[in-house]
Amino acid sequence: MSSARQPIAVIGTGYVGLVTAAGFAELGSEVWCVDIDADKIARLERGEIPIYEPGLAECVLANRERLHFSTELAPALEHAQLLFVAVGTPPTYSGDADLSAVNAVVDAMPTSDHHALVMKSTVPVGTGAAIKRSFAQRGKEGFAYVSCPEFLKEGSALEDFLHPDRVVVGDDGDWAGDAVIELYAPLDAPLVRTDVASAEMIKLAANAFLATKISFINEIANVCEETGADVLEVARGMGLDRRIGTHFLKPGIGFGGSCFPKDVSALKQLAGNSGYHFQLLTSVIEVNELQKRRVVGKLQKHLGSLVGKEIALLGLAFKSNTDDMREASSLVLSARLQADGAKVRAYDPVAEEQARSLMGGVEFAPGALDALDGADAAVLVTEWPEFAELDWSQAAQRMSGRLVIDGRNFIDPETVKAAGFIYEGIGR
Ligand SMILES: NC(=O)c1ccc[n+]([C@@H]2O[C@H](COP(=O)([O-])OP(=O)(O)OC[C@H]3O[C@@H](n4cnc5c(N)ncnc54)[C@H](O)[C@@H]3O)[C@@H](O)[C@H]2O)c1
Repeated sequence: MSSARQPIAVIGTGYVGLVTAAGFAELGSEVWCVDIDADKIARLERGEIPIYEPGLAECVLANRERLHFSTELAPALEHAQLLFVAVGTPPTYSGDADLSAVNAVVDAMPTSDHHALVMKSTVPVGTGAAIKRSFAQRGKEGFAYVSCPEFLKEGSALEDFLHPDRVVVGDDGDWAGDAVIELYAPLDAPLVRTDVASAEMIKLAANAFLATKISFINEIANVCEETGADVLEVARGMGLDRRIGTHFLKPGIGFGGSCFPKDVSALKQLAGNSGYHFQLLTSVIEVNELQKRRVVGKLQKHLGSLVGKEIALLGLAFKSNTDDMREASSLVLSARLQADGAKVRAYDPVAEEQARSLMGGVEFAPGALDALDGADAAVLVTEWPEFAELDWSQAAQRMSGRLVIDGRNFIDPETVKAAGFIYEGIGR
């Protein structure tokens, strides 16, 4: 890569920030990373990667020379003009996005006519305009602003960074937007250059649409269960229509993660705050919440009362290939099961450490078969590849019950049934 690549800074070294930093370092930039979490920075300086993301550790290691980590902003401001912001924007109690971390970054910026904030964090429409107003009120109008929303998916984040479907740049048509576009140029992705508000809305609308697709297919799955149709056949037949497409037509026990739930609710709130009732998104959220709880009904259908029953959860992370537990369906499920008197034992190959701090009363097992020991029923929650290989004959010897609920339609029903189990998927 050319040594003429411009240096950048990344503020916030979480899932998005660290991947962005590693990705731009891979493309040849010196990257100055800043985080307020001193422990995280110390680990990164020692070469430890605080999150699980395939390929990330190798990429950070390969580009170690170009990656600089600090809790201080000063080195970033000294070396870079473009400051990518990737701090968290979690939901508040009302469902609006909590912008306190973004605002803390904005407040820390000095007066400058040669720096730009490049917003990777997902923020409500109007945030960029508010930040520019705030800069102007404090005599910092020279500080440029670019919206550059991030679309990576946890589990394939680095791959997504390096091969994006599109790059969206929302700006005022000045030097900063040009510089961001130049940085992304080697990726050869379709570019959408637009105004800041539209860029902000593209991110929220894209996530809300994907979440809508999931809730839609989950409702179709529920109707399939009532009518005898197989939702996998239905989704295949629907998806081959190019106007619909095959992606995000996978029924399951609801979407989770740090993005869909919060972005759908942020868009709903944003609409509400501007006087528009976004009826469709209200349903998308409600369907998702009900979907997480339907597993409890399936268990009760076969086991009757759950009091004293032992339920094994296979997988806890909100999806496979990540240790992220934010808004994972397993959280709601384990709480509901325990409230109904069940004992919950769980196994996740990667997310156990994160899960332990969030899931009270759950016993953690060191392996899938250990989790199944003596269980009345198994529920597959996360589609970790190792669960496709599970030896169900061995499982049958270790479990006391004969019920398997496949919350992701991930395991082969015939193999499970051949081992003597009752198999229940979603929508089939
Ligand atoms: N995780 C995803 O899959 C994903 C995908 C696309 C967009 N996003 C958006 O990107 C943003 C970041 O998400 P994430 O999942 O990477 O969050 P994260 O919680 O993993 O990381 C945020 C980081 O910012 C740091 N931070 C907080 N305040 C700071 C400050 N004032 N200065 C410096 N660092 C600070 C935190 O310590 C943390 O390390 C969010 O707005 C999210 O919606 C996330």
